[in-house]
Amino acid sequence: MKIIAKTLENTKQFAKDLIIEISKKITDKATILDLKGDLGAGKTTLVQMLGSELGVTEIIQSPTFVIMKSYKTKHPLFKTLVHIDAYRIEHIDEAKILKLENIFIDPTNLVCIEWAEKIKEVIPEAAIKVRCELLENDEHQYEIGDNFL
Ligand SMILES: Nc1ncnc2c1ncn2[C@@H]1O[C@H](COP(=O)(O)OP(=O)(O)OP(=O)(O)O)[C@@H](O)[C@H]1O
Ligand SMILES: [Mg+2]
Repeated sequence: MKIIAKTLENTKQFAKDLIIEISKKITDKATILDLKGDLGAGKTTLVQMLGSELGVTEIIQSPTFVIMKSYKTKHPLFKTLVHIDAYRIEHIDEAKILKLENIFIDPTNLVCIEWAEKIKEVIPEAAIKVRCELLENDEHQYEIGDNFL
């Protein structure tokens, strides 16, 4: 699954489709999206749109300084959206205090992680890779990794 978003509306539609796809594949653990891509690729924007599709009413901002933020949704399956931005984490010990293991075991959590590579030691294998890329002409590409079929 790969899309090129020419407009924010396209990205919103991708968020909608993505929720439909991951809803079909709920497991006994949290659904984790490993959002890959450079600065400005569109990771936070996608999380904002996933939030709006799930019925989050709070404004979702990048949790760069707090690292992690949770939002209640109105969705029947994904009751909580957890947004993690690991960009500022310099040592894996800083991730330990987040108690991610508790977050990753709850199947009602949709966990979106930016800069997961900073804390790769604690990211489960099952995390769904979503590659985000800023193309020329301000187009944004989103592609779901092969481990999600
Ligand atoms: N169709 C689109 N999809 C996504 N973002 C878009 C689109 N069109 C324009 N943008 C803009 O591109 C920027 C993407 O920035 P965003 O904060 O989402 O990137 P990021 O990958 O989270 O970067 P960082 O690594 O710094 O957190 C935003 O300003 C957003 O409004
Ligand atoms: Mg971001």
